[in-house]
Amino acid sequence: MIYFDFAATTPLDPEAAEVFVQASTEYFGNSSSLHDIGGQSQDLLENCREELANLLGINKKGLYFTSGGSEGNFLALEALLSAPKKSGKHIIAGVAEHSSIHGVLNRLEGYKITFLPFNSFGLIDVVEMQRAITPETVLVTVQHVNSEIGTIQHIEEIARICMEQNIHFHSDFVQSFGKIDVRNLTQLVSSFTFSGHKIYGPKGVGGVYVNPAISWRPFFPGGSHEKGFRFGTVNVPGIAAMTTAAQKINDELEQNYDNYRELREAFMESLEPIKEFVRIHQAGSVSQLPSIIGMRISGIEGQWMMLECNRYGFAISTGSACQIGMQSPAKVTQALGLNPHEAKEFIRISFGATTNREDVIRLGETIVDIVNKFKS
Ligand SMILES: Cc1ncc(COP(=O)(O)O)c(C=O)c1O
Repeated sequence: MIYFDFAATTPLDPEAAEVFVQASTEYFGNSSSLHDIGGQSQDLLENCREELANLLGINKKGLYFTSGGSEGNFLALEALLSAPKKSGKHIIAGVAEHSSIHGVLNRLEGYKITFLPFNSFGLIDVVEMQRAITPETVLVTVQHVNSEIGTIQHIEEIARICMEQNIHFHSDFVQSFGKIDVRNLTQLVSSFTFSGHKIYGPKGVGGVYVNPAISWRPFFPGGSHEKGFRFGTVNVPGIAAMTTAAQKINDELEQNYDNYRELREAFMESLEPIKEFVRIHQAGSVSQLPSIIGMRISGIEGQWMMLECNRYGFAISTGSACQIGMQSPAKVTQALGLNPHEAKEFIRISFGATTNREDVIRLGETIVDIVNKFKS
């Protein structure tokens, strides 16, 4: 089986796995325990915090470890709303944000929320966003990279507007950290999140940065770990393994980016024979992560295409186009303004460390075969 679903999750890097085992067996103490065994674990934790803060270009005081991107998004938004820069009850969010963002927004009481769609390039229109701001706007939340189509939002511009208007800005970096250098953005946002399992680290671990100048109140009062930001014994082995994975992937950012760009081109070329049926949802190359391809083949349901590819030995995805057990289109198809038929055609192909040119071309040729058989 050839894996083309790296945007969903990645395999654990062997070196990160070794670090995980070593930290679990040798640094197993509770990082909050006061004895030396706890102290060793605490030292490891703080080393990881420092290393990740360096990779991200942030003050380590604002970095908290979580169980992943979803929890990070939840805690970040709650933290920002607990310390707004001004009074008001209006929030602006992208329609295609991850479900963890929608989950928080849906349960807020008394807030008015403006959701921004994508333009035809899968990008939020910054002018539209600016127009949506009211004197009551206290928070903007816009992801960096979309997990389904890989478009890269204009975070600098959005951050600048938020700064000028005295509004908190949260950005979900889960799909960008380890794929793009985010260091020039981390200083511009109020908070951001990342996740271990998207970068060959373990599942169930991630982080959130909240600018230390923000005096947030804890969502769960009384917690002692992570300065009260989050409850629960800290997953030090997971954090150590994630740090190893992050160091490795950050050393290869440019090389990976160029490689994925070439693979993307090779894949597109292999679809030439069926190009009249193929619609790729993408932005221009500077705003497009090359490793994520969100596309539709007219007249063919994405779920069927995914199962056919699976039968031929390729693991592709429908994104979260249809959430399990539900036939409602995903937020991204809504953000793109697709009708329900088009939404169901959506598939996602995503590249990662083991993807090579040969496999990409084979996948493309297989899709061409499937489409030709279907159409005839
Ligand atoms: C953009 C984005 N945000 C958040 C998450 C959630 O991260 P985690 O699985 O670590 O909770 C994901 C994972 O699919 C994602 O793609």
